[in-house]
Amino acid sequence: MKITVIYGTSRTEKSSTYNIAQQFLAELADGDPVTEFHLPKDMPAFCTGCFNCFSDTTTCPHYKYIQPIEEAMQNADLIIITAPVYVFHVPGQVKALLDHFGCRWMGHKPNPQMFRKQALVIITAARAGMRSAGKDVQDSFDWWGVGRTYSFKNAVLAGDWTEVTEKSRAAFAQEVTKTARKIRRQQGAGPRLKVRILFYLMRFVQKKYRFIESDAAYWEENGWFAGKKPW
Ligand SMILES: Cc1cc2nc3c(=O)[nH]c(=O)nc-3n(C[C@H](O)[C@H](O)[C@H](O)COP(=O)(O)O)c2cc1C
Repeated sequence: MKITVIYGTSRTEKSSTYNIAQQFLAELADGDPVTEFHLPKDMPAFCTGCFNCFSDTTTCPHYKYIQPIEEAMQNADLIIITAPVYVFHVPGQVKALLDHFGCRWMGHKPNPQMFRKQALVIITAARAGMRSAGKDVQDSFDWWGVGRTYSFKNAVLAGDWTEVTEKSRAAFAQEVTKTARKIRRQQGAGPRLKVRILFYLMRFVQKKYRFIESDAAYWEENGWFAGKKPW
């Protein structure tokens, strides 16, 4: 399957999240294209809060970084975001990326192609904070309308992958295989219940309140007010 990976740390060989991502790629890529982005190198900018994207996504001052990432996600069957836990949350570079896609939340202009895609969040911590860091990413996937999201969240009891014990590595390898099997089984399936509920809720809000006219017009153009669904 076609995969786009966004690595939340610039570390590679020594990185636990990077090494786990390589295991998923080995299980799932099947020789199809894999597009990779490394943060912060490939998206080094913070959202300035200019609100441009809410009227027109192409007018973001950082569009030159955002456009290739959005295009690669759009072309993928599976989107992977990796993030080490930093002080119980994702590192700043991951949050900075997600902030730039606020205009793609279902409260605004979700990309219709997201609804049949799957996503995977890979989080590792030395010991704690995997749950809150995982939610940082999962919230965006759900509100972008990504059909199904899976997660690999584990404590590695280490700073570097080289320090991870054989016992942990074996357990991780088993989990990777099990999760990869689920991802393969669900390829092309429609969105899970939570994502459908968010869509119906946002359709009601968009139709009734039209808070941002360009958002409401976008929903209308897509036929979503008239009952068409993006999946
Ligand atoms: C700045 C910083 C903050 C961290 N905060 C936490 C934390 O809150 N909880 C934790 O268990 N580990 C924490 N760690 C450890 C990393 O989450 C852990 O080693 C992770 O597996 C690193 O992933 P990587 O090898 O892919 O970079 C922190 C590491 C750094 C560098």
